[in-house]
Amino acid sequence: MPTSVRSHAKINLGLGIGAPRADGFHALATVYQTIELHDVVTVTARPAAVTALRLTSNDARVPTDGRNTAWKMVELALEMLGLTAEVEIHIEKRLPVQGGLGAGSANAVAALVGLDVELGVRGIPGPKSGTWGTQDPWLAGRLEIAARVGSDVPLFLIGGTVLGLDRGQEVYPLPDVEPTWCVIATPEVGVSTPQAFRDWDALCAKEGLTPEASAGKLNELSRAYASAFAGVIPEGGQGAGSSGVLASNDNGREDLAGPQESALVRTGISSWIQNDFERVVFPQHPSLAEIKRLLAGADVPEAASSLVAMLSGSGSALFGLYLTRGDAEAACERLRPAGVKSYLTRTLSRAAYWRDMLSH
Ligand code: C5P
Repeated sequence: MPTSVRSHAKINLGLGIGAPRADGFHALATVYQTIELHDVVTVTARPAAVTALRLTSNDARVPTDGRNTAWKMVELALEMLGLTAEVEIHIEKRLPVQGGLGAGSANAVAALVGLDVELGVRGIPGPKSGTWGTQDPWLAGRLEIAARVGSDVPLFLIGGTVLGLDRGQEVYPLPDVEPTWCVIATPEVGVSTPQAFRDWDALCAKEGLTPEASAGKLNELSRAYASAFAGVIPEGGQGAGSSGVLASNDNGREDLAGPQESALVRTGISSWIQNDFERVVFPQHPSLAEIKRLLAGADVPEAASSLVAMLSGSGSALFGLYLTRGDAEAACERLRPAGVKSYLTRTLSRAAYWRDMLSH
C-alpha cells in the first residue's frame, strides 16, 4: 500500500553567514523552524532484483529524474541499506516552488521516511522512540546521507526548532518555540542561492571579513541562539507539541494563549535575530525589502506589528510571525494590493512534526 508523508517547509529564524571557505561552502549559524505548510510525498516500494526508481509530480517544474533531491535520497538510502527495490515517488506540490522554504529538501526526507515505512525498515521515526537522538544509529546514518543530498536536508530529520551549524547540515534540536502565527510571502522574483553567496563573498572582501573573524562572529551567534531559544519555553510550560496553546477568544479568533503569548518577545529574541542574506539580496531586489516592511507592519500606524519579519534562507520567500491570527490576516491584507501571494500558517513543534507526518 502506498505511504503518504507530509513534507513540511521551514523558515530561518535568523541566519548568520561566515566568510567563504576553501571547500566552496560558507560556515553558517542559523535556527531552522518547521511550519505547517506542506507538500505530500507518496512512496510505493517493493523489494526487487534491481533498483528502479520512478518519480512523478503534479507540478511540471519538479525534476522527475536524478536531479530531484527525493530521488537522490532514496538512491543513497537503498545503497546504505544494501537493498534493491522498485520505488515510485509522487510529489504533490502544495507549497510554492520557492527558494527559502526548503521544500525540495523536505521532499527528500519525506521520501526517505516513506521508503522506510514501505520496506519495513523501521516503524514511524521521530521523538516517540526512546533512543531518538543523534546517537541513534537510524538517525545517524540518515543524517549522513541527508547531508550529502544538501546542506538544509538534515534539519528535516529533526523538525521543530533546530540549530544549524557548519554549512547548515550540522543540526541540534532546540526546545520548541510555541506554535506561532506565520505569514509566508512568495514574491515573483527568483533568487539564486549560489549568486547570493557570491554577492556575500564580495561584501566580505569589501568589509575585510576574514574566515577567522567570521568564525568568532558565528560562535558568538550560535551561543546566543542556543541560550535565547533554550529559554523560550516558559518555566512550568508544557513545551513542544502541547495541546491547548491555541484558544478561541470572544471574537472567535484563535490567538496564542497563556504564558506562551509573549515568549518570543519576552526573551528579546525578536529584537536581534536577523538574516545576513538580506544585506546582499535586498540591494539586488529592492521589492523584497518593501515586502518585509509590509509583513512587519511597522510603517502602518494602525497595524499591530509582527514579532519578527525577514527573508527566509536566501529567499525569495519572506515570513512574518504574529501574536494573533488577526494580526497575521491583516499582514496578508497588506500584501494583497502589492500583488504578493501570501500563505497563512503556523510554526510546527517537533512533536507535531513527527505526529502529523504520517497521520492524514
Ligand atoms: O548544500 P547545497 O547543495 O544545498 O548547496 C548549494 C550551493 O550553495 C553550494 O554549492 C554552495 O555554492 C552554496 N552553499 C554555501 N554554503 C553553505 C551552503 C550552500 O556556499 N553553507
